[in-house]
Amino acid sequence: MSRCYLTTPIYYVTAKPHLGHAYTTIIGDALARWHRLLGDDVHFLTGTDEHGQKVADYAEAAGKSPQEFVDEIAPLYAQAWQRLGITNDDFIRTTEERHKIGVADLLQRCYDAGDIELDVYKGKYCVACEEYYTDDELDPGDLCRIHKRPVEYYEEENYFFRLSRFQDRLLQWYDAHPGAIKPEFRGNEALGLIRGGLRDFSVSRTSLKWGIPLPWDPKHVAYVWFDALSNYITAIGYGSDEERFNTWWPGTHLIGKDIIRHHCVYWPAMLMSAGLEPPAGWAVGGWLLVGGEKMSKTSGNVVNPLDLIDDIGVDGFRYYVLAETPYGQDGDFTYEGLIARYNSDLANNLGNLAARVATVVGKKCGGIGPAPRADSPLAAAAATAYEATAAAWAEFAPNRALDATWQLIRATNAYLEANEPWKAEPGPAVDAVMGDALEALRIVAILASPAVPGSAQAVWERIGLAGQVTDQRLPVAAAWGSYPAGQPVTKGDPLFPRR
Ligand code: ME8
Ligand code: MG
Repeated sequence: MSRCYLTTPIYYVTAKPHLGHAYTTIIGDALARWHRLLGDDVHFLTGTDEHGQKVADYAEAAGKSPQEFVDEIAPLYAQAWQRLGITNDDFIRTTEERHKIGVADLLQRCYDAGDIELDVYKGKYCVACEEYYTDDELDPGDLCRIHKRPVEYYEEENYFFRLSRFQDRLLQWYDAHPGAIKPEFRGNEALGLIRGGLRDFSVSRTSLKWGIPLPWDPKHVAYVWFDALSNYITAIGYGSDEERFNTWWPGTHLIGKDIIRHHCVYWPAMLMSAGLEPPAGWAVGGWLLVGGEKMSKTSGNVVNPLDLIDDIGVDGFRYYVLAETPYGQDGDFTYEGLIARYNSDLANNLGNLAARVATVVGKKCGGIGPAPRADSPLAAAAATAYEATAAAWAEFAPNRALDATWQLIRATNAYLEANEPWKAEPGPAVDAVMGDALEALRIVAILASPAVPGSAQAVWERIGLAGQVTDQRLPVAAAWGSYPAGQPVTKGDPLFPRR
């Protein structure tokens, strides 16, 4: 059994979650579910980023103390993930004690290694990014390129992390770990940043109070990114339970392209400084755009994922997020696109297959599922679907994984259309065709379950199978032929009513 530690970014608790946060979290969840099907020992982490200037500013605007404010917002994330069927094993908040202990420990280790030193920071800062920028990284008028908002000027005594010392070590590490960042073109972006030269970054602030104090100089609080990145190790026991930490680390980070620098440059250097292993890997997603702009709280063009699931169901929404956009690329979110995907892939393909199989079994097989044939013409399609689905998940390519799974749905629908069992007299020929279709549906239910868990379970039950589809173990469960004859098949309400 292999171990699989997967993380999402921890989101700023400035407002309730939007579709962009749901996007990365659903992809993480589907991957976690896929690995559980493979029998891996999975630990899937998400959480909230609660310190720093940005959160302090939002709290002040709301007339609340930062702690009061984050205590109100953080549960909105946990609740949203619950409604979206997210199976995270832990949820870390950076205001928790276990996290503060670990951050202090990591800071101290980097300080003891000589990689954190006092200096004076003079320069520009985007509060929305919580990031320092040089003039050549800004648009005219000193606008942040991500948020299109003016940056602020800071001048204060800060501790600096000597990132500039890590260029060679980082390049060597990436050289020895090709493909650590997926997709490859996003990895090239990270390498470009490192090759372009690394600037020391400030890891403390004195003008800000809302943060974790530096253990050796508590009038400074830790820079929010140093604090936040550490969540990936503090949540699994770094600084409090070394054995547990060693069990899970290193992990794989799912992130958006906006935070490549922090995750693929700062973070491995911080770990190296502390004598810890860099992450096992990164999977970098693009942005969901609305009218060509990044959806963000700062831009105000947000779509609430919970409104969408009221319209289209949890699985309809999850499927759209996973299938619509190749992971790594930007994708335009449109409501029309959401409905079109739902109708074509869920209502007309999966939903239609499940309904017609149940109808024909009801009319021609007395409602009892017949056995599949060992030499079914669909067996090869099922084997190909499994192989291609597995390969795509391994590459962090959910849209290709689902396309591969949906090939089996399409092949099964085509098989039924070619054989027209609904026109035939009941008998062995119809039984054979329907047994094959039921077996294909059984395999589809397993392969689709990471994306559409509720619907996959419904299919599982309607074709008469007991237990949980999530308890199946691949690759054995995907092998052709194990659908048991003699189970009652029920039609039920449409799985995906057309919209
Ligand atoms: O950056 N499209 O938090 P954040 C796709 N707290 N993904 C999007 C998105 C969009 N329009 N908007 C956000 C932070 N995301 C830090 C992270 S981690 C140690 C600290 C997703 O609330 C995407 O994964 O701004 C992005 O990287 C993340 O949310 C940033 O969320
Ligand atoms: Mg952001």
